[in-house]
Amino acid sequence: MKLFLDTADINEIAELNETGLVDGITTNPSLIAKSGRNILETIKKICEIVSGPVSAEVTATDYAGMIKEGKRLAEIASNVTVKIPLTKDGLKACSALSKSKISVNVTLCFSTAQALLAAKAGASFISPFIGRLDDIGSNGMNLISEIVEVYSNYSFSTEILVASVRGVQHVVDAALLGADVATVPPNIMLKMYKHPLTDKGLEDFLTDWKSTGQSIL
Ligand code: G3P
Repeated sequence: MKLFLDTADINEIAELNETGLVDGITTNPSLIAKSGRNILETIKKICEIVSGPVSAEVTATDYAGMIKEGKRLAEIASNVTVKIPLTKDGLKACSALSKSKISVNVTLCFSTAQALLAAKAGASFISPFIGRLDDIGSNGMNLISEIVEVYSNYSFSTEILVASVRGVQHVVDAALLGADVATVPPNIMLKMYKHPLTDKGLEDFLTDWKSTGQSIL
């Protein structure tokens, strides 16, 4: 399973990229606004740090506008993936950009029917927002399960990018279902390292080691 970071914070990206475990980045207009920085400069900088796919989202809502913005974003670097909302115009733009070899991440997916259309439109990634479904009392992981089944029935190559992740268990459940990617906020990636028994076990080992008076070096 690939692990992407869902942030536009360059410092956090640079720091976590050092782990060697970051396979890509996703951003959206809200995350760019939160960063307080210019979108074009931010995406350029992120692409210099991370070699995997970096999603940058269009803000136009009409077909022609999305094509123009998508092409502009794709010019920034070869690893930019253009993020496009799951609307009628959005999927039309997805088809056109995908045909011209621009990678597209279709975002704001909340149903299996939408995911099916995105795959048919040639999307490189589909982004189902599981946390926002859970927030309204629906079950986000059921959506992932259905998309995994449908894409496998027809061997679609569109990668399932689990988004709106709220905790470590979301990542684990998505991995159990065979989702291709999970995009996680930096704090959730850091939580994935943690287990109280790891901390306790290490503490005990170090206490016992100290009692031997030995040194490896
Ligand atoms: O990048 C899209 C998605 O991950 C947003 O998550 O937490 O705003 O629902 P959230």
